[in-house]
Amino acid sequence: MKRGKFITFEGGEATGKSTQTKRLAERLQQAGIPVVVTREPGGTPVGEDVRELIMKDRPTDPVTELLLFAAARAEHMTSIIRPALDEGTWVISDRFIDSTRVYQGKLYGIERTFIEQLERFTVAPDYPDLTLILDVPANEGVERAQSRGTLSRYDAQRIETHEALREGFLEIATAEPQRCVLIDGYLPVASVETAVWQAVSAHLLAEAD
Ligand SMILES: Nc1ncnc2c1ncn2[C@@H]1O[C@H](COP(=O)(O)OP(=O)(O)OP(=O)(O)O)[C@@H](O)[C@H]1O
Ligand SMILES: [Mg+2]
Repeated sequence: MKRGKFITFEGGEATGKSTQTKRLAERLQQAGIPVVVTREPGGTPVGEDVRELIMKDRPTDPVTELLLFAAARAEHMTSIIRPALDEGTWVISDRFIDSTRVYQGKLYGIERTFIEQLERFTVAPDYPDLTLILDVPANEGVERAQSRGTLSRYDAQRIETHEALREGFLEIATAEPQRCVLIDGYLPVASVETAVWQAVSAHLLAEAD
């Protein structure tokens, strides 16, 4: 049995992650590939509770938040992601480790080594095979979030924060070119979908046969 592939979507607020997660899943299914769609925080009952908790009452200390995300991730890996990959199903996660690195690391200043240690105990050795980073100018992200109606506590952050997030994701794309592909999320939805499919085909499908 060939192991499934693990794909993650990353990027700042309203960059199109959820839109493209859904579209990629449909394309893979059409290609006859079994796929599970999940998200972080979330993906499991514990994870969804953590998501709700964090969205409702934001923890005061960023370390609290980091550990809650890590706890949800451990559960996610053990009960959803690893079993799916083991049985040959592909997994697409809407946000994953890079969001933690950027939000809790870059934005809130938690030591990188600590975050990497948590990854070792939750994710290793099952790091994503491919990470699609959607890149959108910060002001566009804010506008999209606003036009969508409800602003989450993250959406409501200042433009400088959105810039910092964007920069954080760009740094990861540059630092890990083997795993990450930067996608121009400013293009129309269908063009982004095409770019995503090209990246998946080039990186994963050729070797999946
Ligand atoms: N390429 C695009 N061009 C224009 N609008 C887009 C594009 N992709 C998504 N949108 C719109 O932008 C909004 C945010 O998209 P989506 O929910 O997919 O982003 P997200 O990255 O998942 O957001 P969040 O960070 O809040 O989870 C939605 O209203 C969606 O329809
Ligand atoms: Mg989303």
